[in-house]
Amino acid sequence: MPESRVVLVTGASSGFGRATATLLAARGYRVFGTSRSPPDQRGEFEMLRLDVDSEESVGSCVSSLLQRAGRVDVLINNAGYALTGGLEETSVQEAKALFDTNFFGAVRVTNAVLSGMRQRRSGQIINVGSIAGTISIPFEGYYAAAKAAVLSYSETLRHEVKHFNINVSVVEPGFFRTNIGNARKVASGTIEDYAEARKRAGRALLKDVDGGGDPKEVAETILDIVSNPSPRLRYAVGKEKRYLLLKKVVPASMFESSVRNHYKLDG
Ligand SMILES: NC(=O)c1ccc[n+]([C@@H]2O[C@H](COP(=O)([O-])OP(=O)(O)OC[C@H]3O[C@@H](n4cnc5c(N)ncnc54)[C@H](OP(=O)(O)O)[C@@H]3O)[C@@H](O)[C@H]2O)c1
Repeated sequence: MPESRVVLVTGASSGFGRATATLLAARGYRVFGTSRSPPDQRGEFEMLRLDVDSEESVGSCVSSLLQRAGRVDVLINNAGYALTGGLEETSVQEAKALFDTNFFGAVRVTNAVLSGMRQRRSGQIINVGSIAGTISIPFEGYYAAAKAAVLSYSETLRHEVKHFNINVSVVEPGFFRTNIGNARKVASGTIEDYAEARKRAGRALLKDVDGGGDPKEVAETILDIVSNPSPRLRYAVGKEKRYLLLKKVVPASMFESSVRNHYKLDG
């Protein structure tokens, strides 16, 4: 029997991370999930402690995995959170903290596993982006900017590591019912001029999230990517993926109006 591929999934305590880790473990992969507060008891997959904001935490998580399994064949950078608030209402400190987790978190873990993948001339990295990286959500602007950065980083990394037989892909989910709404942070500043539009956009977004898909759909897509010997760069998932195509084909002004309309920005 061939040895199982070793998979590291960051942020596996809930949502996409948990659904993905559970599915891959059920399909015979040796899965390590992570959480900032992992449970004491082992569940369907092994859990490691990891805070992607900390270089030290990333180092000890990866060395603990290497001690147990010897290598990482597949890295799934999934950990992240949402930050709500107008761009002018959000402090640079709050925006930096968001980038530290949602963008540099993926960078830190990638850097910790890449040398092993290069030495073995084999590996796969899947970054969880978002449809918001291409179609910005008003009052979620830094979240969208960090996801755009994840997409751009992944495209470059794919070019740079392809000749080492390392594949890089991005999953771009639409709206899904996970814990992201409960875990979201809210910008500490509020400016009255934005209050009405922010509330209306927030209500529209809540409706999108409540009507969102099952995170298992994202897990199935990740399983498809992991099983594919030549995966593409981008994989959009969920019913909103049609808007990515629409953005390419309809005039920009028409697309912009439909976004303003959807989020009730003009009342
Ligand atoms: N839900 C959606 O509609 C949607 C759409 C597009 C993209 N996404 C993206 O999908 C990814 C997963 O989100 P989700 O929707 O599944 O949300 P979720 O249920 O809230 O899961 C987020 C996971 O990230 C982990 N996490 C948060 N901050 C972390 C940190 N500093 N270090 C390590 N782990 C951290 C959490 O683990 P602990 O709290 O246990 O540490 C948790 O397991 C995120 O990157 C999110 O931006 C979500």
